[in-house]
Amino acid sequence: MSNVAVIGMQWGDEGKGKITHLLTPAFDIVARFQGGHNAGHTVYMQGRKVILHLIPSGVLHPNTLCLLGNGMVISPPAFLEEKQALEQLGVEVGDNVAMSPGAHLIMPYHFVIERLREERSALRIGTTCRGIGPAYADKAARAGIKVGDLLNPDVLRAKIEYNVAEKNILLRHYGENPLDTARILDEVSGYAEQLRPYIRDVSFILEKAVRQGRSILFEGAQGTLLDLDHGTYPYVTSSNSTAGGICSGLGIGPDKIDAVLGVCKAYTTRVGEGPFPTEALDQWGEYLRKQGQEYGATTGRPRRCGWLDAVQLAFACRVNGIKRILLTKSDVLDGLEEIRVCTAYRYRGQELESFPAESWILEQVTPEYRTLPGWRSPVAGRSEWKELPQEFKDYVRLIENLLEVDVALISTGVGKDDTVIRPDAWEGLVDLDLLEHAEH
Ligand code: IMP
Repeated sequence: MSNVAVIGMQWGDEGKGKITHLLTPAFDIVARFQGGHNAGHTVYMQGRKVILHLIPSGVLHPNTLCLLGNGMVISPPAFLEEKQALEQLGVEVGDNVAMSPGAHLIMPYHFVIERLREERSALRIGTTCRGIGPAYADKAARAGIKVGDLLNPDVLRAKIEYNVAEKNILLRHYGENPLDTARILDEVSGYAEQLRPYIRDVSFILEKAVRQGRSILFEGAQGTLLDLDHGTYPYVTSSNSTAGGICSGLGIGPDKIDAVLGVCKAYTTRVGEGPFPTEALDQWGEYLRKQGQEYGATTGRPRRCGWLDAVQLAFACRVNGIKRILLTKSDVLDGLEEIRVCTAYRYRGQELESFPAESWILEQVTPEYRTLPGWRSPVAGRSEWKELPQEFKDYVRLIENLLEVDVALISTGVGKDDTVIRPDAWEGLVDLDLLEHAEH
């Protein structure tokens, strides 16, 4: 069986939650490799809305092993809260979940520092304020505290003492009360026993699983344009959310990834600050926000909305190695008389050859649009390609031609059945029969 990655192609919120939930029955393991509880994966389980932030959405399937890789940052209280919420829904969070000792901890001071930066610094990113950036910053500065350190009280104490002393210099600078080492040590030590059963060598588990012929679904969080290296820096998250992050974030070789599936919303959204060339600041942006219920799953913030951007998506195909696209929220475009797709960028009068690497250029590009007629009958709830209106099929073909990809799946609503699967694109990759007969 193949190992497949699901990666967001835009600025996150592409609908990866539904896709992972749908595909999980065909896989033995679902592994997350980056990010933390800044993610918000919305899944509908037996008609109930479940939002997962930290634990891979595979947890909703009883026979799936869910892994949290070393590339993630973990807030122990967020993990424990999510575990409790899942258990209240009757979902088991036991041996089916493992967390790498190499993942870094989000510490109480990370939240404080991030809040202060977002409130007071001249550079406001519009983060989820979950402590993600400061935790990764400490990791890169080699001051971070790892999940595995929870198991050694002496190491934990020494690292907390060092960090609190350093963070207090910054807090005093901001005129805030200094942190108390003993209180933080007490709080964090309290999590050690609760997390201990989950701490296992994720890289080793994956190696063994592959040898046994088990299959892995790599679950990306955020999206390509929020990647620390390839996204619209500095308005990005602090991890590698592109496919490149899979190997470093789980401790596996690239030979273990058979295909990268790109999840792409039929239009574009982003939360937080930063450039967004096809943002619709007119009534159409408002229309998409309303129809698509575009409000952040983690923070509830209204998402900025705009048209599909083929220049940006071609870049996402390039940096991730995407050949198959899973198109989500197509039904949101139902009822529009005209639909726009950006096919080129102009910068200082010249057409750009590709998506610019510099955010300050991206901020100044003028998108060029192709306008297509809207579809005369709705796609909402459709599950067969042949049922789809011709105008929608033309939209899909345009995407395929512009990006040189196959649109392998089309989501036409939130439910499992609101999905059109195009079998040819999955051949040799995923056993579609396993999806067909799965309980959701
Ligand atoms: P951070 O990840 O909290 O540091 O936020 C950095 C940027 O990424 C902000 O613009 C956030 O809105 C955005 N972001 C982080 N996680 C998500 C997500 O899951 N979906 C969409 N945007 C996200």
